Amino acid sequence: MRNKEKQPEIVVFKFGSSVLHSEEDLPRAVHEIYRAWSGGTQVVAVVSAFGNTTNELWRRAQSISDEPEASALAALLATGEATASAMLCLALGKVGIAAKVLDPAQAGLRTVGDRLEADLVAVDAARLKSELRQAIVILPGFVGRDEGGYTTLLGRGGSDFSALFLAHQLGGRCVLFKDVDGLYANDPACSGPRPLRFAEITYETTLRIGSQVVQAKAVRFAASRGLRFSVTAIGASSQTVVGCGRDRLVASANSTPLCIALLGCGTVGGGVYQRLAALPELFTVTAVGTRNGVRALAAGVPERLIACDLEELVESECDVVVELIGGTKRAAALTTKALRSGHHVVTANKALMVDEGEALLSLADACRVTLRYSAAVGGALPLLEAIDRARKDGAIRAFSGVLNGTTNFVLDRLAEGKDLESAVAAAQKGGYAEANPRFDLNGIDATQKLILLARKAFGISLPFAAVAREGIDQIDPQLVRQSREQGQTVRLIASCRQEADGLVATVQPRVLPQSHPLASAAGIENRLLIEPVVGAPYLLSAKGAGRWPTTEAVMADLLDIKRELQLATATELFEDLRECVA
Ligand code: HSE
Repeated sequence: MRNKEKQPEIVVFKFGSSVLHSEEDLPRAVHEIYRAWSGGTQVVAVVSAFGNTTNELWRRAQSISDEPEASALAALLATGEATASAMLCLALGKVGIAAKVLDPAQAGLRTVGDRLEADLVAVDAARLKSELRQAIVILPGFVGRDEGGYTTLLGRGGSDFSALFLAHQLGGRCVLFKDVDGLYANDPACSGPRPLRFAEITYETTLRIGSQVVQAKAVRFAASRGLRFSVTAIGASSQTVVGCGRDRLVASANSTPLCIALLGCGTVGGGVYQRLAALPELFTVTAVGTRNGVRALAAGVPERLIACDLEELVESECDVVVELIGGTKRAAALTTKALRSGHHVVTANKALMVDEGEALLSLADACRVTLRYSAAVGGALPLLEAIDRARKDGAIRAFSGVLNGTTNFVLDRLAEGKDLESAVAAAQKGGYAEANPRFDLNGIDATQKLILLARKAFGISLPFAAVAREGIDQIDPQLVRQSREQGQTVRLIASCRQEADGLVATVQPRVLPQSHPLASAAGIENRLLIEPVVGAPYLLSAKGAGRWPTTEAVMADLLDIKRELQLATATELFEDLRECVA
């Protein structure tokens, strides 16, 4: 039975200067935040200033005065964290998930003591918990406010302290992202034998060997509260857990980049290429299959990677094939070939998954590889994952939602008095519409998504014809305008409900009162309302279309595969070591 009181887990992530050198590194933090959020976790992101910013600000302060006044110096240095926090919020907005920056005063981060070496003593946990229900919360690390409202600093490396303090106050987990995947007995950057990583470490040992990596004051705070935390790197499957009461060293597995062959380099393919190329320690793109070499070059793909023979590409040496060419017949043949060649496959192709999904998933099982398709439904909105989670908690009675960003965007434009053609042209320009926008307007796209969600929610393959479908292609723009004038909103609603005599599935425009939870989905936002048999309904929302939201969902699948393979390698290594010892 579903537990009505069940609260989502909270995680506090800390991204330090060694991870965020500049705004170019923000997508890395976004990948980690997205991964946790799409798994149903509420995320607080604590951010340090980019790279060398704090030193640079310090130098500038000293260029004015040898003995800078403490509150002015604190206010100046705090601008580094404020800038990085705001920019992370922009980066999250780009992929379409709701995020909010709170400054130390809004978060109630109270400090005592020296203004440049202060200690945190309070936070407005009730406010943070309330904000977390709506959005990712971003907080500048290293800073607080004293009793008089002055800006204070927590000392060098103080963002670690901020993150641990927040995790303790919010009852959450804390993960400190560093440029290494944990604490090592010897420097992993030095040549020589394979370095040994602490899988677990005590506070005492951390203070002795790890104070270059984690702020000592933060470790002492965690020790005094018995708070465990992890130290890891972005995209890593390995970590060090601090505070386990014992030290345990393990041999670290060599992590080689995952080799990716990309099929397609259009709106999403170009985005995925750029994100993969920015993570060279995790991924190597081996080939980009496309008929439009000019477009691929414009997306930054080097000429040597561009391949025209897609049949050859899916059998070439790689770990994962990412299918982003769209369509069904050819995509199905290529995906089949890729799976049979022993490659994992990630696809964003919903038509493919509707028509051939069951057969392809069985084939993937038989070939002992994975086929992932998070990006096929809902762009950045992790709908398939949400339904999976809901089912783990109990049976689902119904779901309904805004599942097509283009029609939502078009309806907003119609409500403003624009005509259908110009609204559709704007959606195409924005990269939201299907290759043939008729599939958006006539409800086929939303129907395909509904079918995939129904398969997850009810374990039933709904035939296309079983969904009563009406699009917005014939809608009267006058009705849309008038609805707005009367305080109502027209939305294309996909709905699927378990009734006594079976599933009732519809896709149709509906006039909703403003108070309806699906009415305020704005622009390309997608929303889903899940109604469990037992317990309260719940709502999810994020941008459901466009290059970066969809790219993020593809990247989440790829990062999951990377982590799973890395874990499998680590397990093999452990087994080998055990055999050697035996
Ligand atoms: N064309 C789709 C939409 C995006 O507008 O929602 C991909 O599913």
